[in-house]
This record gives sequence, structure tokens and C-alpha cells, in this order.
Amino acid sequence: MTVYLDNAATTPIAPEVIEAMLPVLKDGFGNPSSTHSYGRNSKALLETSRRSIAKHLNCQPSEIIFTSGGTEADNMAIQSAVKLSGVKHIITSTIEHHAVGHTVESIEKSDNVRVSYVKLDDNGTVDLEDLERLLKTEEKTLVSLMHANNEIATILPLETVSKLCRKYNALFHSDSVQTMGHYNFDLSKLDIDFLTCAGHKFHGPKGSGFLYSNKNTKIDSLIHGGSQERGLRGGTENVYGIVGLAKAMDLAYEDVEGHQKHVQSLKSYMISELTAHFDDIGFHGEIDPEKSLYTVLNVCFPATEKSGMLLFTLDLKGVAISGGSACTSGASTGSHVLRGINADTNRPNVRFSFSRYTTKEEIDYALEQVKVVFEKTLA
Ligand SMILES: Cc1ncc(COP(=O)(O)O)c(C=O)c1O
Repeated sequence: MTVYLDNAATTPIAPEVIEAMLPVLKDGFGNPSSTHSYGRNSKALLETSRRSIAKHLNCQPSEIIFTSGGTEADNMAIQSAVKLSGVKHIITSTIEHHAVGHTVESIEKSDNVRVSYVKLDDNGTVDLEDLERLLKTEEKTLVSLMHANNEIATILPLETVSKLCRKYNALFHSDSVQTMGHYNFDLSKLDIDFLTCAGHKFHGPKGSGFLYSNKNTKIDSLIHGGSQERGLRGGTENVYGIVGLAKAMDLAYEDVEGHQKHVQSLKSYMISELTAHFDDIGFHGEIDPEKSLYTVLNVCFPATEKSGMLLFTLDLKGVAISGGSACTSGASTGSHVLRGINADTNRPNVRFSFSRYTTKEEIDYALEQVKVVFEKTLA
């Protein structure tokens, strides 16, 4: 049996998405910039996809700019804010994805921009009083805080933070790569400048995604070239990827509450089984499935002689999960997210992440294999 529990890294593509993409791959090869019928057909697919995505999010189609995924969209948002909106101060956190963290670090070095890191509690929850304190500055400020953390599942209260940003006339960008397609968004009500999306996190194709850029916020191109995406992103559009992305979003929002309920119950089940079996077990981040990103569970196992081999041993048994610290992932520096919340990185920390396709049988198999590893290493 093989069990894929690394859905925060990427998800399997939905069969319906493949179905939607196939005719475009086969026959829809026209360049959307060409004026003949082939080009016009591709252009129509592009604009229909944009309208459909905008409808799901209740925003205007012109506020959706297609990109190669989350990293590019995050870069575009942050770099535009600095270049066009006069941002001189960025407030962010130490547990952002590198798509944000490394972008901010590079801007700090090269653009004379001051960076402040907001206080977090041990679950990675943003201290809103500290955020307000940091916002009290004369400098034009950008707040870049992720909607949900991809390693520890902690969620940011988007609406509260957006109101705080507006109170202090700051721009607000939130990396929503882990939440788009998993939660409802009503952008007619949420006052935010930028959100980001990657299709492969909700059963769409890799290399597809977009930046939501509020119509009142200035936006600049990162990639110069032709006048695609209204001159905001040069390069021939990834039409089949975009068609797949729009289809993945349709499927995600067909029954988002149903998917949520199903996955939440698996997460709760896993927590209770692990807690019942191991005396010395912990979880990182917020674990209440209703208050945290329901697709992610970060578990801190007991340290045993061979527990560093946990990922490797589970992989041999067909269970694919992700590591959260140096001793389990093999990375020399370990997880910056776990360091950011002062977690004990000497213990094996692993991330299980689920999707709407995950079944209870798969969770049972994974649990069984985990128990075997510890029985052997504890013996
Ligand atoms: C929170 C978050 N932001 C950004 C990204 C980057 O997205 P992409 O892989 O589409 O560039 C990821 C992907 O792991 C992510 O989890």
C-alpha cells in the first residue's frame, strides 16, 4: 500500500482537471496573442478561466494576474509595493515561506527598506498588539503575513489584520497559497492589497497560479517582455495550466465545506490515535482542526535512538510525509518555522498533510507503520 500524506507540498492532480486540460493540450495550441481563430480561441479560454476564478473569490477579473505559481506571485506583490507604493518599512514574521522571507531579505539589502519581525507566540500566532505597535510609524509600511502556515497550520485572522493595516494606512499582502481552494474568500468584503495562489496545492497543475491585486493598488511587472496580462507579466501564457487551475478551483469550491469536514475529521482522528498511543508526543502550532489549517498536522515524536530514520523508514513502507527539522529532513539548517517558534528541533518533528482524497484507511495504515518504527526503536 502507498499513502501520500504530503499534500502541503503538492497535491495529486484531479482526474477532472486532466480531462479539462486534455483538449487544450491537444488542439488548443494557439498563442493567445495571435489575432487568428487559433489565437482567439486560446484568448477566450484564458479570459473565461479568469472570470470563473474571479467569480469564486468575488473580485473583478482584472484583479487576477496569472503567474507561474505562489513564489512568483509573492515576489510580484512585495516588489511592487516597494517599487511603486513607496514602501520603506516591511512588517513580516520569521515563519513565512521562503517565497516571502527571502524576497524581503533581498529587498532589505538592496532597497534601503527597514524590516520588522512581529512577535509570535509558541504556536506561531501573531501578537496583534505588537503588530499595532510596529504599525505606528511615519514610514509607508507593507505588512506581509501568511494566511496559514504550511508547516504548523497556524492561521492569521485576515479581516482583523486588514482593518489594522487600513487604520495605519499600510499595504497588506497575505501569502494564501495554503488556503486558496480550501477556504471561502469574499474579496468584495475583505480589504486587502495582495493574495497569492498556486494551483498545485488544490489538485491543479504545477506551474499555474495567480496574484490577486486589489484594483486600487499599484502593481508592477517582474517579467518584462510582451504585453500579456495587461503588460504586467511578459511571456506566452500557460493556457492549459490556467484552464486546469480554473477547473481545480471549480472542483474545490463545489463543496468546500464538505471537503473541510472530511479532512478535519481525519486530522482529529490522527491526533487522538497518536495521543492515545504515545505518552511523550507533542504537536506544533495550533491543532484544533476548526481553528487551524485543517490539511496540516505537525507532530513532535519522542526522540529515540533510531527515530531520526522515521521519514526514511516510512518511505520504505510506502508512506510519504515531510520532515520538519534537521534530524528528520536531512537539511543542514532544519526548519526555520520550527526555530521561529522555539520548538525542540532535537526531536523528530514531522508534518502529515491531507487532502480531500485522503481516506481513514490510509491514516490507519500510516499510524500502523509509525507505531512499528517506534516499537522497533524503543525495543
Ligand atoms: C505558504 C506557501 N507559500 C508559497 C509557496 C510557493 O508556491 P509555489 O510552489 O507555487 O511557487 C508554497 C509552496 O510550498 C507555500 O506553501
